[in-house]
Amino acid sequence: MFGRVKPLDAILATAEKKALHRSLGAFQLTLLGVGAIIGTGIFVLTAEAAQKAGPGMLLSFVIAGLVCAVAALCYSEMASMVPVSGSAYTYSYAVMGELLAWMVGWALVLEYAVAAGAVAVGWSGYFVGLLREFLGWDLGLTLTRGPIDGGVFNVPAFVISLFVTWLLVIGTRESAFVNAILVAVKIAALTLFCFLALPVMNSANFEPFAPLGFAGISAAAASIFFAYVGFDAVSTAAEETKNPQRNMPIGLIGSLAICTVFYLLVASGVIGSVGAQPLLDASGQGISPGSPELAKACAAQATEVVVCSKEALAWTLRSIGWQQVGNLVGLAAGLALPSVVLMMMYGQTRIFFVMSRDGLLPEALSRIHPKYHTPHVVTIITGIFVAFFSALFPVGALADISNSGTLFAFAMVAIAVMVLRRTDPNRARPFRTPAVNIVAPLAVIGCLYLFFSLSIYTLSLFAGWAVFGLVIYAFYSRNHSHVGRGLVEVHEEDPDIPPQPVAPMPGASLD
Ligand code: ALA
Repeated sequence: MFGRVKPLDAILATAEKKALHRSLGAFQLTLLGVGAIIGTGIFVLTAEAAQKAGPGMLLSFVIAGLVCAVAALCYSEMASMVPVSGSAYTYSYAVMGELLAWMVGWALVLEYAVAAGAVAVGWSGYFVGLLREFLGWDLGLTLTRGPIDGGVFNVPAFVISLFVTWLLVIGTRESAFVNAILVAVKIAALTLFCFLALPVMNSANFEPFAPLGFAGISAAAASIFFAYVGFDAVSTAAEETKNPQRNMPIGLIGSLAICTVFYLLVASGVIGSVGAQPLLDASGQGISPGSPELAKACAAQATEVVVCSKEALAWTLRSIGWQQVGNLVGLAAGLALPSVVLMMMYGQTRIFFVMSRDGLLPEALSRIHPKYHTPHVVTIITGIFVAFFSALFPVGALADISNSGTLFAFAMVAIAVMVLRRTDPNRARPFRTPAVNIVAPLAVIGCLYLFFSLSIYTLSLFAGWAVFGLVIYAFYSRNHSHVGRGLVEVHEEDPDIPPQPVAPMPGASLD
């Protein structure tokens, strides 16, 4: 099982077939990264981080950002060396064999599909707020929250997930132009937030800094890690990147650095302007975010507090007297978050697609739609699952589950970098992780630390998911694996390669 390694050269030959036009530079890559990163994490989960850590969430943002930075340096080496879709799954197949690759691919389902659900729930919170503020419609909780969070079925989250699925089936990919506009919208909203919230900071709001101790700060870091997820979207664009050795790492680290600065400023703005103390139960313990207990405690508050808000940034601005600007920030989130859902779901479909093409999942899944040229079967199945997750679960729980898968995958990538340096030292590495003997182990340790800072509930779900995956591997994938059957193929059909024209039009230039 460990010996079943997919030859790196076959993977690279598939990549060469794609021969996408190399057009992206460092700036576009950074925009791509920022577009995928800024989303529900900062706009919504800031409230959950406050409930877990109080003002100490500032430290949580720093810790999660540092772990991502070292993980991104490892990612850059792999992404520039093995520039194909399937990200961490593909790298693991080439380096550590089929079983671990399967585990990584299985964990990536959590990263992408569950994250898409989390972002859809985050969007729903802002959407409901917008309807209330602009149209005066109060939809109540029953049809706008899941059953654990004080409602029954989150209809807006369900609908946006299905809408995004439809977009993906008909082949919508966010163009670089739309991405650039949405990045501008998000950055403008966060900048506006900082300009209005930071000047009214009150230092007393930072006391007590860590009401739930360092354990609270670690737990919040493990959750807020979600706010940084998405930078690996940059790695999937490696094939379209000019001079990837220089531009990929700039894109990855650059987008992370920009987001970290914004996150720290925004979090300081929330804490300093409206306070960020958690709600405690009768015994002085923090109440778990997204739980029925917190929903009840929030309903009992005489004046609303940020930890109860589902639209933390808009709420903060409204509370400090900027009602209309708060609504505008809400509008920005309402406009921009669906694109994050789209990117996450897109990533998921491509990973399923590659796994099915390798024979580890049924091949029917990698069927490509004759008209739209998209992997429609896998997209629809993914979309239905995402829609139900988002309708039934609270945003924080979904984000934490997604983080568990992501942290596992990132740790594996860092290990793969170290292994490949030993097993294949002479292969050309367009980008080399600096001080790899320090950075890669730090990435592994950082990911493990955050992983084990997740709640027992999340870790149990991860373990259950992993066992389920192993059962499928043992009874299906192992026997159907193409590598296991000695097939090493270079694929012709790929949803991301436009069909080639049979012959050029007379007189047409191919340039
Ligand atoms: N980082 C992305 C977000 O916060 C997933 O929505």
